[in-house]
Amino acid sequence: MNAPVTTPRLIPDNAAFHSVEVKWVRHWNEHLFSFAIERPASFRFRSGEFVMIGLDDGAKPLMRAYSIASPAYAEELEFLSIKVEDGPLTSRLQKIQPGDQLYLGRKPVGTLVCDALLPGSRLFLLSTGTGLAPFLSLIRDPDVYERFSQVVVVHSVRRVSDLAYHDEMTAQLADDPLVADEAAAQFHYIPTVTREPFRNGKRIDGLIEDGTLFEAPLTGPKKLDPATDRVMLCGSNAMIHDFAKMLEAEGFKEGSNAHPGDFVIERAFVG
Ligand SMILES: Cc1cc2nc3c(=O)[nH]c(=O)nc-3n(C[C@H](O)[C@H](O)[C@H](O)COP(=O)(O)OP(=O)(O)OC[C@H]3O[C@@H](n4cnc5c(N)ncnc54)[C@H](O)[C@@H]3O)c2cc1C
Ligand SMILES: NC(=O)c1ccc[n+]([C@@H]2O[C@H](COP(=O)([O-])OP(=O)(O)OC[C@H]3O[C@@H](n4cnc5c(N)ncnc54)[C@H](OP(=O)(O)O)[C@@H]3O)[C@@H](O)[C@H]2O)c1
Repeated sequence: MNAPVTTPRLIPDNAAFHSVEVKWVRHWNEHLFSFAIERPASFRFRSGEFVMIGLDDGAKPLMRAYSIASPAYAEELEFLSIKVEDGPLTSRLQKIQPGDQLYLGRKPVGTLVCDALLPGSRLFLLSTGTGLAPFLSLIRDPDVYERFSQVVVVHSVRRVSDLAYHDEMTAQLADDPLVADEAAAQFHYIPTVTREPFRNGKRIDGLIEDGTLFEAPLTGPKKLDPATDRVMLCGSNAMIHDFAKMLEAEGFKEGSNAHPGDFVIERAFVG
């Protein structure tokens, strides 16, 4: 059967933003989807950064911050997005199709970058919901495995179907030719689902307290230790504030691009 023919939605040129084509779209459930856009030749970013993306809204482009889920070397730019039912951007963005166009900001920024951390041996990437997105970029960047001997992604979600990229991470990125070998030895994935039955059901703080986060094959201390560990946090305001307080109480110092430290934070959304 032939696929239905649809006309791509194009956007007017805008001097402030790149106009880029959507390459593919993958829906995870009614709240979440991923998509990729073409990467303009002049677009540079560091793994873990975010950028503004958006659509035309008549008078001016409607733009929102989005973490880039692809690593810095990738040919396409991938994103993981929420679908907010009455959200100005995502009520429309969730309907994009390959061939449609989006706006892409010209200046990626952010603190969830290796440059904002001091050297360490274990890197813990703690995320809730779409806070996973910047960590998808970092875990697919070979540089991260050179800097850290063990890389742990913890992803906390409400429902099993919110576990985007579960299969890829469970397989330790085996289909990614650039990091498959490093990830097989160094990458660890700990998903947890807090509102449906699943093998892990506690919030991340519960997994730290009961030791799940430090179970074999991970080696090293059975707690977060500023002597060996570096931490990145991405989630709701409440989540990053709770964890920042907890890390500071353990002796971790917050880092930034100007002053690298033991942990860095970024909110996954405003509100
Ligand atoms: C630094 C930064 C990085 C971001 N990266 C991403 C990303 O990679 N993926 C992504 O989907 N969003 C991300 N966001 C949020 C994004 O900018 C928009 O808020 C989101 O696309 C919804 O846009 P909207 O116009 O539909 O609704 P908005 O008017 O922006 O939001 C409406 C409400 O929906 C809720 N909401 C918004 N975004 C989320 C979310 N991601 N998860 C859960 N609830 C949410 C909040 O309660 C918010 O008040 C990021 C935000 C910031 C500040
Ligand atoms: N995901 C959905 O099914 C869904 C459906 C409809 C609407 N939404 C809307 O989308 C927004 C965000 O939803 P979301 O599911 O992406 O994010 P969320 O509510 O932040 O939940 C994501 C995960 O983070 C955990 N969490 C929340 N606060 C935490 C904290 N302070 N410390 C540690 N863990 C914490 C949650 O555990 P708990 O489960 O214990 O809170 C859950 O496992 C909400 O405004 C919601 O109304 C989401």
